[in-house]
Amino acid sequence: AGTLGAAAAQSGRYFGTAIAAGRLGDSTYTTIAGREFNMVTAENEMKPDATEPQRGQFNFSSGDQIYNWATQRGMKVRGHTLAWHSQQPGWMQSLSGSSLRQAMIDHINGVMAHYKGKLAYWDVVNEAFNEDGSRRQSNLQATGNDWIEVAFRTARSADPSVKLCYNDYNIENWSYGKTQGVYNMIRDFKSRGVPIDCVGLQTHFTGGSSLPSNFQTTLSSFAALGVDVALTEVDVTNASTTQYAGLTQACVNVPRCVGITVWGVRDSDSWRSSESPLLFDNSGNKKAAYTSVLNALNAA
Ligand code: G3I
Repeated sequence: AGTLGAAAAQSGRYFGTAIAAGRLGDSTYTTIAGREFNMVTAENEMKPDATEPQRGQFNFSSGDQIYNWATQRGMKVRGHTLAWHSQQPGWMQSLSGSSLRQAMIDHINGVMAHYKGKLAYWDVVNEAFNEDGSRRQSNLQATGNDWIEVAFRTARSADPSVKLCYNDYNIENWSYGKTQGVYNMIRDFKSRGVPIDCVGLQTHFTGGSSLPSNFQTTLSSFAALGVDVALTEVDVTNASTTQYAGLTQACVNVPRCVGITVWGVRDSDSWRSSESPLLFDNSGNKKAAYTSVLNALNAA
């Protein structure tokens, strides 16, 4: 197949991108995105500061702009994200204890009600671990160690139709402490019946020219717990073709790796734009990494 989305679909997978609502008026951007991808994640527009700027007053205008743009083109949408230490609205940052816990529950219920039955995945909890595998200290963590499972149980009741994911970065290397911390939490959740369907590995690769050699082991180990895995925010320093081909190959080698999402369209759209980490250059031309990904998908 000649596009990333169609090539991924040949093996039942998707290929997605992060979309920023502020760029939907840029026709170079929308032409590439509309042609190449079949899954969309809102880069910022479905985060807590965007969707509940004042307590109890929800605003879905930017999120809906992206949702409508994507679904009008036959793409699916991944929700990102419901409970996170970062990009909380000011009112939430100033809460603690039981009132913050209740605000988190109300936020999940409010946002998920709006998108009920419409999304393929939700990143219910984002980035809750430290590099050593312990829990990240945050205002949410300070409400009690059970905040993550409460978030997932709340999410399942709010919309039983959407797959519920835990999402994090630096969990690609199987021998890394953080990977093991997240793995142990997922194993515990599955053993106790806490609802969880998927793990998102953000896959922000920096430096070096090779992948962690055990990346595929990480994907298959999570999958063996009974969850789907996905690469959710891929970008790679200087768009190393070796790393892009390798991460694509690792996903297609694991049956429960359901798809890959790159964190933006052109290099100039990236939060790491100085590292030219994406598949299209600033003018919208396909880079060598694009071809390495497309070939790996077509060979699957
Ligand atoms: O919208 C305001 C604008 O009004 C203001 O003038 C401008 C001045 O700084 O800021 C704009 O907001 C920025 C926003 O992106 C939209 O461009 C924020 O400052 C900036 O912090 C924010 O950065 C986002 C970042 O998450 C925040 O944590 C990036 O775009 C986004 O790519 C990044 O995405 C995260 C994932 O959600 C989670 N994993 C890591 C990933 C990369 O950091």
